[in-house]
Amino acid sequence: MYDFDELVERRGTNCFKWDDVKDGDLLPMWVADMDFKSPPAVIEALEARARHGVFGYSGCWNTWYQVLLDWMKKRYGWEARREWIDNSPGVVASLSMLVRAYTHPGDQVIIQTPVYSPFYSVVRSNGCQLIRNPLIMEDGKYRMDLDSLRPRITSRTRAIILCSPHNPGGRVWSSDELKKLGEFCLERDIVMISDEIHCDLIFPEYRHNVLAALSPELEQNSAIVNAPSKTFNIAGIQAASTIIPNEKLRNAYRHVLNNSGIDIPNVFAVTAMEAAYTHGEAWLEELMIYVQANYRLVRSFIQERIPQIKVMESEGTFLVWLDCRDLGMDDHELETFFREQARLILSPGHIFGEEGRGFQRMNIGCPRSLVQEALLRLESAMKRMQSKGWGQ
Ligand SMILES: Cc1ncc(COP(=O)(O)O)c(C=O)c1O
Repeated sequence: MYDFDELVERRGTNCFKWDDVKDGDLLPMWVADMDFKSPPAVIEALEARARHGVFGYSGCWNTWYQVLLDWMKKRYGWEARREWIDNSPGVVASLSMLVRAYTHPGDQVIIQTPVYSPFYSVVRSNGCQLIRNPLIMEDGKYRMDLDSLRPRITSRTRAIILCSPHNPGGRVWSSDELKKLGEFCLERDIVMISDEIHCDLIFPEYRHNVLAALSPELEQNSAIVNAPSKTFNIAGIQAASTIIPNEKLRNAYRHVLNNSGIDIPNVFAVTAMEAAYTHGEAWLEELMIYVQANYRLVRSFIQERIPQIKVMESEGTFLVWLDCRDLGMDDHELETFFREQARLILSPGHIFGEEGRGFQRMNIGCPRSLVQEALLRLESAMKRMQSKGWGQ
């Protein structure tokens, strides 16, 4: 019913992904937004709000809270409460404020790497130390490594930032994995900050578990950060929220939020979020079928025609993690190969941390014809490289 094949020209719209790439011949598949139009209901709501013509200070009223509560309950079985929620201009802003609220400079915060790069900066910029706990790759998927985490905890370990689902690995953590991590953190008094921005972007056979919904104890030890921005492709509108059930944790966060001066929502963010959660579900369901078909195409094409690259097993998100280590290139050579030879801009794996070296992240949230074009470019680049004697 929705046309995800439509090619929408994004150049010339102040678009980070396309306009930042000066060479028009390069195909950008990096920044994590999609090239699809948002659901029609979101566009119509924004048009109507724009036509109103008065854009003074806005607020979040009952409908805004209610649509989020309804979404959480319907899709994830979590009965959150209105008073637990705060609006935020973005997930990264919230992560940074949460770290500030729960730590003192010199404290330690855990991240499981490789992971979305701002996880590093929100810890460091708040004067804290990182405990990097690498994920283990097993059967083409990541899993958490609690055994190696145990000895790294000290009396100054205060918090963990969890990426759930995982960017860049595409894992949708199981309730069992999350509960084990949750128990580990509860025993050691480590607050859990759960970035669930990708939670709606799940392939049909998987289920996302909201961390706080797993037990009353975890509910009291977690801050859930969520947004409709990836889901409905409205990242540029900057709408996000935090849901913090524990009063003490919530008040600590609110103190930082109120001091930041960014607690007043953008008028279009309120409009877009209400429309997306109220009317966007059918669109989202079709979207994920489309994205999964893109993923399957990438996987089968690369398996058959570019077997030197391994495609990570993915359970959701529109991001594909490509293991290019068998190409034997260093970071610079790999980037040059993708850019100069394949004429593609992907996200280099090393920005996600040491463990990302030799990987590239490909954004497949785009019309299939672009995915096909990218795969053909990559295959030709490989053939050219082989014809020059590579790999012999
Ligand atoms: C895991 C994760 N968190 C947060 C963000 C960005 O969120 P925001 O734009 O709301 O700051 C991204 C974007 O790629 C992401 O992948």
